[in-house]
Amino acid sequence: MSEAGSEAGSGPAPRKVPVLAFEKLSKEFKLGLRLRRVQAVRDVDLEVQQGEIFGYLGPNGAGKTTSMKMAMGLIRPTGGRALIFGESVERPAVRRRVGYLPEHPYFYDYLTGFEILDFYGQLYEMPKKKRHARVDELLTIVGLDHARDRTLRRFSKGMLQRIGIAQAILNDPDLVVLDEPMSGLDPMGRKEVRDIILALKEQGKTVFFSSHILHDIETICDRVAIIINGRVERMGSLGELLTGNAGLVEVVATGASPELLARLEGDGFTAAVAGHGHRLVVEEGGLDPVLRALLDGGATITHVEPMRESLEELFVREAGAHHAE
Ligand SMILES: Nc1ncnc2c1ncn2[C@@H]1O[C@H](COP(=O)(O)OP(=O)(O)OP(=O)(O)O)[C@@H](O)[C@H]1O
Ligand SMILES: [Mg+2]
Repeated sequence: MSEAGSEAGSGPAPRKVPVLAFEKLSKEFKLGLRLRRVQAVRDVDLEVQQGEIFGYLGPNGAGKTTSMKMAMGLIRPTGGRALIFGESVERPAVRRRVGYLPEHPYFYDYLTGFEILDFYGQLYEMPKKKRHARVDELLTIVGLDHARDRTLRRFSKGMLQRIGIAQAILNDPDLVVLDEPMSGLDPMGRKEVRDIILALKEQGKTVFFSSHILHDIETICDRVAIIINGRVERMGSLGELLTGNAGLVEVVATGASPELLARLEGDGFTAAVAGHGHRLVVEEGGLDPVLRALLDGGATITHVEPMRESLEELFVREAGAHHAE
């Protein structure tokens, strides 16, 4: 059931059914008495494969939450559809394999950290002994051991966010959908959430999460879709998307004499002070002679790296292009 055409003995390798697929997914809201229309999501096509960490990146109001709610079967698409493991999320067998962190989770705040997770475990009908062991394990995973017996009313925003993540992975789901899992967290907290997501991937899980914080996505995602005003404008691996400065290499060297630098600059290279050394941006084809000249001139090369456009630059470029329309 999970692999299309798996009965064929020969021929092309069977195509894997994506863990999550949006097919022309669309949502139009009607607002107010005059039924003003808001096209929140427009014909979004995407596929997330097993084991991927997929980042859904977009500015405020782009349509991320709306898409995710449709994927979870919480609101109905007005066009297209969302499939999980090739099936409707409304099927209980599918639902059991998915964990979800909503954007604004609501928790009963008179319960303790332990009690709230135990409560969710009961919803999954986990037997008591197994459930208690799992809740303790989760509190450790999300770094809330110390708050096991504290009521949620006395939790900080970051602690509540961690409870939300624990709740999303409680039943050991194969697909984890997280709507802004790093929101409200400080840099340490963001790193911890990134580590939790990477650990899920190591266990073979698939993670689909949204963010407008580029750094969070840049460091851990296998693939990214950039959604702006309801439309996916760009999609691919970071390597595919970040081609803006392709062909340029950054070289940093120390101990180069002013004459040598002047000569290299004269050849069209740009030099700037970087820490204690000098930074040169060189075209890939012209790298060898520059390195040779530096070494022959007694300089020490401390860094040679192909330049990549950061996701931030790409994001601002795409969002900016859209604003200009
Ligand atoms: N229930 C609703 N009724 C009417 N319009 C809505 C509703 N929910 C969302 N929208 C509109 O749909 C668009 C997309 O909203 P959505 O919440 O999906 O964006 P988002 O990408 O999650 O943004 P953010 O980063 O701020 O969370 C926005 O214009 C929003 O105002
Ligand atoms: Mg949102």
